[in-house]
Amino acid sequence: MAELRVDLGDRSYPIFIGEELLTQAELLRPYIGSQLLVVTNETIQPLFADSLLESLQALGLDRVELLALPDGEAHKNLDTVNLVFDHLLQGRFNRKATLLALGGGVVGDMVGFAAACYQRGVNFIQVPTTLLSQVDSSVGGKTGVNHPLGKNMIGAFYQPQAVVIDLSVLKTLPRRELSAGLAEVIKYGLIYDAGFFEWLELNMARLMALDSEAMAYAIERSCAIKAEVVAKDEKEGGLRAILNLGHTFGHAIEAHQGYGDWLHGEAVAVGMLMAVDLSVRLGWLDASVYERTYSLLMAADLPLASPQGMGADDYMRYMSVDKKVLDSKLRLVLLKALGSAVVSDDFEPEALAACFERFCQ
Ligand code: NAD
Ligand code: GLY
Repeated sequence: MAELRVDLGDRSYPIFIGEELLTQAELLRPYIGSQLLVVTNETIQPLFADSLLESLQALGLDRVELLALPDGEAHKNLDTVNLVFDHLLQGRFNRKATLLALGGGVVGDMVGFAAACYQRGVNFIQVPTTLLSQVDSSVGGKTGVNHPLGKNMIGAFYQPQAVVIDLSVLKTLPRRELSAGLAEVIKYGLIYDAGFFEWLELNMARLMALDSEAMAYAIERSCAIKAEVVAKDEKEGGLRAILNLGHTFGHAIEAHQGYGDWLHGEAVAVGMLMAVDLSVRLGWLDASVYERTYSLLMAADLPLASPQGMGADDYMRYMSVDKKVLDSKLRLVLLKALGSAVVSDDFEPEALAACFERFCQ
């Protein structure tokens, strides 16, 4: 088992990465009070809840309960978070309660938000079960829900007490979800670590085959980069925004398609390629980086063009409400070199228009 640390002073926490960790609940004992509510969804419950609960029950807590939410991005809203509050209040859970999120980014984001709000904040633990949530959403404390007018627009920064990444759970993950997670893994190479990008170019076939040694390394490196960035800039005053490479374009795709049609990671994949394309157009990046990014995304079975029928106007409509818009100027994460990202509003509209032209069919 590997152990990393997110270094945030008295809110620091460990990330445990290994095989079969769901059955090793003793790892979690230091982070749990006397009452525990495991929150998952209806898809994940039959796969993993029994083995986790069995292992948690051996800890001798006063109470261990389970709540399964409906599955899907369409349910990532305040109504669903309210189901968590209903359960906690009806069961008279107190401030010593701990919430454990067992699931992908949707469950993790909602449970983290519920933990931030319940009685003004209770402990929570992330047990991510998708690759995307293991390498991204479970680390760093962004929690929240969607609003009909914007994705993730209601939320809080609220750090977990621990993150437990069990590599074994990936065996049941649908292939599309695996690819979506790999998009975020590729992101870390693009924004922070050219050497990791090169490693991914050499090892993508192993990752697609769920080779456990390769997967452990990719997850560990991704989490280490995320932990380093979050430790430097927890609340996204500056640096942390680089983690959103491709996300401004990607969120526009998700919103245009209606949440849930395109997966988050799929939309981010196209968005990252667009950001790389724009960086090349601005003369900041060698064109070979575009070709390499295209090939790597293709090897991960990710989409490489905008959804049918989505045009530049559609992008601009959704992108204008992005959280990175400042003083009504659009800011994008772009690359100055492979492994080095910046947030910039310093691009000509013509370059962005040409980028849309290339990607919109
Ligand atoms: P998800 O949570 O919807 O999970 C994808 C699907 O896989 C779901 O149907 C889920 O039930 C199923 N599933 C989960 N684990 C499984 C397993 N091991 N085997 C079989 N099926 C499994 O999607 P996601 O990609 O994990 O997360 C996407 C969400 O994460 C988005 O809402 C996005 O906004 C959010 N996100 C948040 C952050 C952050 O920093 N907080 C970062 C990135 C993404
Ligand atoms: N996924 C972007 C962030 O955590 O900041």
